[in-house]
Amino acid sequence: MPDIDITQVKLDIEKAGSLTELEELRVKYLGRKGLIADMMSVIPSLSKEEKGPFGQKANSLKNQIKELLDEKQKTLAGGSIAKGKGSGIDIGMPGIAQELGRAHPITQVIDEICSIFVRMGFQVVEGPEIETEFNNFTGLNIPLEHPSRDAFDTFYLNTADKLLLRSHTSPVQIRAMRANKPPLAIVVPGRVYRPDAVDASHLFMFHQIEGFMVDKDIKFSDLKGILEVFAKGIFGKDIKMRFRPHFFPFTEPSAEVDISCIICKGKGCSVCGRKGWLEILGSGMIHPNVFNHVGYDPKKYTGFAFGMGVERIAMLKYGINDIRLFFENDLRFLKQF
Ligand code: PHE
Repeated sequence: MPDIDITQVKLDIEKAGSLTELEELRVKYLGRKGLIADMMSVIPSLSKEEKGPFGQKANSLKNQIKELLDEKQKTLAGGSIAKGKGSGIDIGMPGIAQELGRAHPITQVIDEICSIFVRMGFQVVEGPEIETEFNNFTGLNIPLEHPSRDAFDTFYLNTADKLLLRSHTSPVQIRAMRANKPPLAIVVPGRVYRPDAVDASHLFMFHQIEGFMVDKDIKFSDLKGILEVFAKGIFGKDIKMRFRPHFFPFTEPSAEVDISCIICKGKGCSVCGRKGWLEILGSGMIHPNVFNHVGYDPKKYTGFAFGMGVERIAMLKYGINDIRLFFENDLRFLKQF
């Protein structure tokens, strides 16, 4: 008489590693031509006394096997998504969110400033951070031993040819003018270096954006118009601007540009030192000596130049009171931009 060893069935089902294997076992035991069907098929040929107990045995085996198969199926099906109960994995636990990164606030401000100038037809150009004395000073009409060099205190490299870390982005004026004929309209973002003691408003490295335009007949009013579009684009159209006479060796006349204080709107507060105005950049008409150094005829061409500190603009724009925050890489700070 056909019989089934339930211990063997348990082992077989235990070993099944996939839903396909389990289905094969289901066919083997419970299928139309399976082992249970074999048992059932002999019942009609049994004696009256044997029929009852044998039939009950076959039925109970069928139910046990079905239960074992169903149980195992749940485990295997669950495992294909995530292991369920008993696997040590909590499928109800929230997933690990992929956080989006973002550009550094200084990069964002550089991009924003440059794009305003690009819309006005300027080209973005970069230059090296290691410069020659000529490009950083002499070409810009800052003579050797002239006290104005102190304003651009410099890190010199230990080389015979007196290379240095550029102390402003103005040397890119020299490079661009030597390499190209006018007309030129260029903005230059980049790092600059000065041996300053670090405090809330000074670092030994910061970013500047230089801008200049050279052609026949460029006037101071062109500089004013362009800078007004820039300042209103960054700080809002309600701000006022003023030009204050200043001195730079490479521009004549020179001016510092102020905007009305964005905090107190010009009334006077602690941010603007009660003046109502905030200085944002230096500018002027390119000095004829600079044109001579790059081989442009100063009688034929005129131009303007300006330079601004990116960190300063970012601090004013976002109300940040310590420049060091930009470079501490504290995510609580960086995530706010
Ligand atoms: N290079 C000057 C500075 O670093 C800024 C400037 C650029 C001023 C161009 C005038 C013209 O302070």
